[in-house]
Amino acid sequence: MTPAALDASDPAFARDPFPTYAELRARGPVGCVPLSNGREAWFVTGLAEARYVLADKRFSAVRPSSLDSSSPRGVLERHMLNTDAPEHTRLRRLASRAFTEARIDALAPRIEVLVDALLDAIPTTGVVDIVSAFGFPLPVQVMCEVLGVPEADRLALRQWTYTVASPTGPGTDDAWDGLLTYFTGLIAAKRADPTDDVFSDLVHLTDDEGMLTEQELVAMAFLLLFAGYETTMNLVGSAVLSLLTHPDQLRALTTPALWDVAVEELLRHGSPLEGATWRWATTDVEVAGVVVPEGSSVLVVLGAANRDPDRFDDPDLLDLTRSPNPHLAFGYGPHFCIGGRLARLEATIALARLVARFPHVRLVADPAGIAWRPGLLVRGPMRLDVRLDDPHAHLHSHADARRAAGLRRRLTARQADAVVIDLAGNDYLGLTRDPRVIDGAVTAASTWGGGATGSRLVTGSTQGHHDLEDALAAFVGAEAGLVLSSGYLANLGAVAALSGPGTLVISEAQNHASIIDACRLSRADVVVTEHRDIAAVELALAGRTLERAIVVTDAVFSVDGDLAPLTELAYACRRHGALLIIDEAHALGVVGDGGRGATYAAGLSGAPDIVLTATLSKALGSQGGVVLGSRAVIDHLVDTARPFIFDTGLAPAAVGAAHSALDALVADPTLPLRARQRARDLARVARSAGWTASEPDAAVTSILIGDPTLAVAAAAACLARGVRVGCFRPPSVPDAISRLRLTARADLTESDIDTIATVLAEVRAEVLA
Ligand code: HEM
Ligand SMILES: Cc1ncc(COP(=O)(O)O)c(C=O)c1O
Repeated sequence: MTPAALDASDPAFARDPFPTYAELRARGPVGCVPLSNGREAWFVTGLAEARYVLADKRFSAVRPSSLDSSSPRGVLERHMLNTDAPEHTRLRRLASRAFTEARIDALAPRIEVLVDALLDAIPTTGVVDIVSAFGFPLPVQVMCEVLGVPEADRLALRQWTYTVASPTGPGTDDAWDGLLTYFTGLIAAKRADPTDDVFSDLVHLTDDEGMLTEQELVAMAFLLLFAGYETTMNLVGSAVLSLLTHPDQLRALTTPALWDVAVEELLRHGSPLEGATWRWATTDVEVAGVVVPEGSSVLVVLGAANRDPDRFDDPDLLDLTRSPNPHLAFGYGPHFCIGGRLARLEATIALARLVARFPHVRLVADPAGIAWRPGLLVRGPMRLDVRLDDPHAHLHSHADARRAAGLRRRLTARQADAVVIDLAGNDYLGLTRDPRVIDGAVTAASTWGGGATGSRLVTGSTQGHHDLEDALAAFVGAEAGLVLSSGYLANLGAVAALSGPGTLVISEAQNHASIIDACRLSRADVVVTEHRDIAAVELALAGRTLERAIVVTDAVFSVDGDLAPLTELAYACRRHGALLIIDEAHALGVVGDGGRGATYAAGLSGAPDIVLTATLSKALGSQGGVVLGSRAVIDHLVDTARPFIFDTGLAPAAVGAAHSALDALVADPTLPLRARQRARDLARVARSAGWTASEPDAAVTSILIGDPTLAVAAAAACLARGVRVGCFRPPSVPDAISRLRLTARADLTESDIDTIATVLAEVRAEVLA
């Protein structure tokens, strides 16, 4: 079957010619391909055959019908790439003598300077075409260094180069003229006054056959400029695209040696010269069993050879660690690229410095829509729009401001075997690691699995959830309960679902952040009253214009561990027909008979106009939250509370652990008493050490410090002595006074208290010294 005519100007082919090449290769590594311009050419797509053709002198690099050799273009294009031996051999020998490895290597520091200057000049806001801002100017500038083109002349050279490379535009003849005149002048200047560059050497080098002629020199200058810029520009463009579309591989490029290997793969995969320059068969030549007839145009498709599956495993895959990598990106045989060393050096410096300077560089365009250079000879994106700015720059400036104010936070991993007295956690009853609680978690996990599998309303309501809700409701004397996946969500759900527009919500100043957020979410009118200010609550209720009102309060305040005036609040609410929501997070398991909570202790449990929220993560040693109240309230939440409806149910292990902890609490009603006693002990020893400590109503006391940096230092000094304390700084404290927060546990021993006393005294002496 004859292949369909190949249209090299087709944008889809330009973007991804590799399936076409694979198809051609499948028909045979050498084959005649009809082209859409009506001609045909012999395509070499196998790697072994590509080498064979490039090395065989029966394939000539001299175009059969040459251009007018006296035109500027004709003169400039009569360079070594378009010649055969012996002319080619001589030109190449002289060029190689100027282009020594040592000379190339010595260019490295200068290339670094040029790269950095270009990177400096790229605007870091908005969208940047990295090909025109970096990929194009860099190799032109490097070749100007090689040729010894003074800085002042580089812009003109860059423009002529660009124009002759895109011959569809106007001014092409002028550009060829400009290049010829410029190089002629440059040669004269180098002859008269040689400088330390490759081109000055070329002008003066001589061998048995004499020096390079004027014409040979201008053509050489043109070839070097052109061969050096087109290819490297395309390499930079395609390499940046490949790196940005393979971020995991980019991240792994941590050493120069890895970059060296990566650049080989970028050369193979990108194939900046998609085809070698045209060759012509000077006689019938048999390659891989087919005869290429005399006079045929032959294209060695380097891009296809570089993806030959006989030589490369998974050839379409970009593998920046691929080694060995016998690609043909620099050609083969007598015309093998003499600039490979320079190209590698340039690409490595350019790519590594680009990503180091702009670690946030990212593509703007969808790679599938990027336009690629058309044609069969060069391969690279026409433009590559990227963004270089740090999308989180504003976060860094906020972080800097927090650092300056001593308010940076840091996560530190707690170790299971750390020997510390923990006064920072909320494990008030010491049940988190209780074997019964662990067993409850394990049994529930083995019964139900690791997760609840869905929202409670879909699949996430296990029997365990229902049993726990019944047990918690019975424990505090409520009609019903609803378990959510955290105490935070319990507050969001309860406050928002029970209020809404048309409701006045009265929230007190020291309420927990989850209540503050719940108020924001509620879309109700919100009034914030001062800490424990009953008169203010009363005033707000009395003066309201909205029909419904809700008062919401912590039972025990998180920061200082003091109790809310629940009885007064409850009766104020009742007088004004308002609902009272009480967050029992720090009271459940600690306050009230058997730990039944502050509402129970106030004799208010089971009241129809009171709703409780609580967390399962403190005294109950697990995780999760609960809302407790009348059946009507719970049913309403099931229908409308978004944090309940749109959240996966609490994990079975947490349900099991919380239920076992509740059982343990019921079995030992002295646990809450012991926790409260230990909190009083902590406040006492803190005061004896000279600190100002709050009087605990539950299991929490706090030491007032003030300055956040001092508070962090005091917490660190305690930890260094084996006592972990909480450190509360703005915005976690209502009055901007930073504190150490000491949480008591029912299982602290007398000796623990003695140790804590000593540590608090030492730390005070150290930190306030
Ligand atoms: C990524 C960058 C480069 C690639 C992929 C590349 C590729 C190639 C290839 C494939 C050839 C052989 C063409 C053929 O046989 O038809 C070649 C030849 C050549 N390249 Fe490069 N090249 C690159 C960079 C450079 C640089 C930076 C220079 C400048 C010093 C340069 C100078 C030359 C010269 C002078 C030839 C002709 C050699 C001859 O005819 O004997 N190349 N290049
Ligand atoms: C008063 C108060 N309410 C609610 C919560 C939130 O509970 P959870 O951690 O289960 O989300 C906390 C927890 O820190 C709290 O202290």
